[in-house]
Amino acid sequence: MDRLIIFDTTLRDGEQAAGGALNINEKLEIARQLERLGVDVIEAGFPFSSPGDFKSVSLIAREVKNPVICALARAHPDDIDSAWEAVKQAKHPRLHVFLSASDIHLMYQLRKSREQILKTARDMVARAKQYTDDVEFSPMDASRTEPGYIYQIVEAVIDAGATTVNIPDTVGYAIPSEFGKLIRGIFQNVSNINQAVVSVHCHDDLGLAVANSLEAVRRGARQVECTINGIGERAGNASLEEVVMTIKTRQDLFKVTTGINTKQIYRVSRLVSELTGFPVQPNKAIVGANAFSHESGIHQDGVIKMPITYEIIDPRTVGIPASSLVLGKLSGRHAFRERLAELGYSLSEEDLSRAFTVFKKLADKKKEVTDRDIESIIAQELRTVSEVYHLDCIQVSCGDRGIPTASVRLIGPEGQVLADAALGTGPVDALYRAINRLVGVPNVLTEFSVKSVTEGIDAIGEVLIRIESKGVTYTGRGADTDVIVASAKAYMNALNRLLATKKAAG
Ligand code: KIV
Ligand code: ZN
Repeated sequence: MDRLIIFDTTLRDGEQAAGGALNINEKLEIARQLERLGVDVIEAGFPFSSPGDFKSVSLIAREVKNPVICALARAHPDDIDSAWEAVKQAKHPRLHVFLSASDIHLMYQLRKSREQILKTARDMVARAKQYTDDVEFSPMDASRTEPGYIYQIVEAVIDAGATTVNIPDTVGYAIPSEFGKLIRGIFQNVSNINQAVVSVHCHDDLGLAVANSLEAVRRGARQVECTINGIGERAGNASLEEVVMTIKTRQDLFKVTTGINTKQIYRVSRLVSELTGFPVQPNKAIVGANAFSHESGIHQDGVIKMPITYEIIDPRTVGIPASSLVLGKLSGRHAFRERLAELGYSLSEEDLSRAFTVFKKLADKKKEVTDRDIESIIAQELRTVSEVYHLDCIQVSCGDRGIPTASVRLIGPEGQVLADAALGTGPVDALYRAINRLVGVPNVLTEFSVKSVTEGIDAIGEVLIRIESKGVTYTGRGADTDVIVASAKAYMNALNRLLATKKAAG
């Protein structure tokens, strides 16, 4: 059976999603989890686009050894040179060069002729080829380009050394039959096509990214570019978990295999959601909270009798833990460690002790500590940004009489104790105003949301916020059984990210 190459672009196209910026440590953590997932290629970033991207691509190239590490570059000499500088230390480096191909882009954006584009594409692939054998080329907006011109470009870049030719549906315009026809046309009309892998890269503007990618696989494409949870520019990219699980579930139709360890899917989906701050919709295929829960009595009856009646995938195949064991305040360190292992976490003794202390505190407040609570503990306690200001304590008074008031005590960068108080229109407003008086970094709150991690009155509340400063968005998260405390933690988390970025930029 043919092998389908899974090219993950969560850290590049995924990170292009509005408000989804990740810091360098978060990118490395996701890259490591993608390696565990077994993806073949990680597109780690676009080095020329910012110094931060350059650094994170270099770090991932040095640290993550099994997959190919790919760096994106425009068809421009400086871009290609910078992408190579960033990725050259990878065990398996790849350069990915892209250039617009459609008349719409040529006429209105690049103001170049087809002949000029063809020459640039060939020259820039040849330049990349001087650095590495593994060169990918993408004619951007391919699905809105005249097919005959696509065949010409593809042939020219393969001739210049491209080993992968990627056909992007950049604006998510294609429908499956049409996109499949384009891929089939490439195989039929490009004379040297057997010297390269045909790849596809589909966007989800019409909700067809996965369907288009799969149709392309049926027509011979052997690399699919996708992202975890389908995040990405605008409506996002083809979702990795949906592509992989369709191929696995419908082997009868696709007759290709992937190297993905599907048991890691749920975990990487949670990680990406936590770090980007993009929640996964409950009805999302494969990884949504309701993807395997049966509400209707008839369905429940069927599943109890024989799961296959209403379940086409065993949830354990994608690593959704069978939550047989619920922990409580009598649970010891051993049971806690066992549950963590079942959820796929292996912690150092030091991290285990920290997480166990938080678990015990929570178990004192909550009767049952569920898997989601444990995941929340790990996310909050073990993934803290290095703090410039530490939240020591808060006191808030509010109600429908009187003015909401908050007092806050922080520990500052030199260990100094800082305290202040403020009034606000509500408790969170008062709290954030008090923190602002102490930290003094101008910013605008652009998003604030609270959700409960589990059911019940004693559930942990998770607060997600986004703040904007000088055109950059910073995400902050906080969790606590008290949502006001969670709000304070989320705000401090976002402010500390902002301050850390400012410090790194000098
Ligand atoms: O959508 C697109 O065309 C891209 C290219 C850079 C491959 O992301
Ligand atoms: Zn894209």
